[in-house]
Amino acid sequence: MESLITLVNKLQRACTALGDHGEDSALPTLWDSLPSIAVVGGQSSGKSSVLESVVGKDFLPRGSGIVTRRPLVLQLHRLDEGREYAEFMHLPRKRFTDFAAVRKEIQDETDRETGRTKGISPVPIHLSVYSPHVVNLTLIDLPGLTKVAVEGQAESVVQDIENMVRAYIEKPNCVILAVSPANQDLATSDAIKISREVDPKGERTIGVLTKIDLMDKGTDAVDILEGKAYKLQFPWIGVVNRSQADINKNVDMVAARRKEREYFANSPDYKHLAHRMGSEHLAKVLSKHLEQVIKSRIPGIQSLISKTLNELETELNRLGKPIASDAGGKLYTIMEICRIFDGIYKEHLDGIRAGGEKI
Ligand code: GDP
Ligand code: NA
Ligand code: MG
Repeated sequence: MESLITLVNKLQRACTALGDHGEDSALPTLWDSLPSIAVVGGQSSGKSSVLESVVGKDFLPRGSGIVTRRPLVLQLHRLDEGREYAEFMHLPRKRFTDFAAVRKEIQDETDRETGRTKGISPVPIHLSVYSPHVVNLTLIDLPGLTKVAVEGQAESVVQDIENMVRAYIEKPNCVILAVSPANQDLATSDAIKISREVDPKGERTIGVLTKIDLMDKGTDAVDILEGKAYKLQFPWIGVVNRSQADINKNVDMVAARRKEREYFANSPDYKHLAHRMGSEHLAKVLSKHLEQVIKSRIPGIQSLISKTLNELETELNRLGKPIASDAGGKLYTIMEICRIFDGIYKEHLDGIRAGGEKI
């Protein structure tokens, strides 16, 4: 199954590479059918922090106000061994081993598209992280939902962000990570409101409660985390991310995770829930869920791929197979990937016929 997730990641990347070229009309459909995980929530609710914890790396711009202003499509690739590195799709030949430089490039690339204003853009930034310390996942960091435009922003920004977020999360294959801060009333949570709209039964929404450490004295989130209040199909997962003070003091990820583990393990309120709280647990739940989504979608993706494969063949013929040219080369890559996928799918089916794993 691991290989299947890896393959879907590759396919996603290949689709976007081609999509950027505006070469083929069949591919956006294929892209839409691939599973992904999107992080939604109000501004400064802790979305970027949650993503960083899932990845186990510091590399995202975070902070108060509107920091994330373009969607970031983040593909995690598990390496068996070796040193971790990152690559941007817009800088194909550059390997980043310094994750502070990754953060800076996200900021610079955001500014290149939006100007140095507080404007937003729906054009995604694509980043791949290769590491022995991640699970294979595709995650999308989105600009935070807001209620009012700030100075320097167009009045339309509130609606623009909402539309952008909805465009990502309304796809049936998108798993929604709905991030809400525990120190605000859940009844007013933007994350819950918009995910209910696109996923009323909560079949693909995972609620993440951040800032548990910042709740007022005398209040706690036990009812929510135990599933007695604001119940979702999936149990809420509470996390404690780094505070702004931690960020300013450069508290690293390993220390942050240890602190988080200790927080839940030592808290009289949450001790009994500690085994299903925290960022590491969230990463495991996500990976497992994505696997299930992929399994249930295999037949659908498969039929779309064979359709696309035919269309690609026609397209290649039309182009006279100019493998050396950029467009031809990219089409060729996708065809190769489709063929591999085809093969794996058939193996998977054979396995089922032989009485193995069930879809
Ligand atoms: P985003 O705007 O939703 O992406 O939120 P960020 O991840 O940028 O976080 C906004 C601010 O809240 C930052 O200063 C974080 O340090 C802080 N923050 C996020 N999660 C937590 C948490 O669980 N506990 C504490 N104390 N601070 C947090
Ligand atoms: Na923020
Ligand atoms: Mg953010």
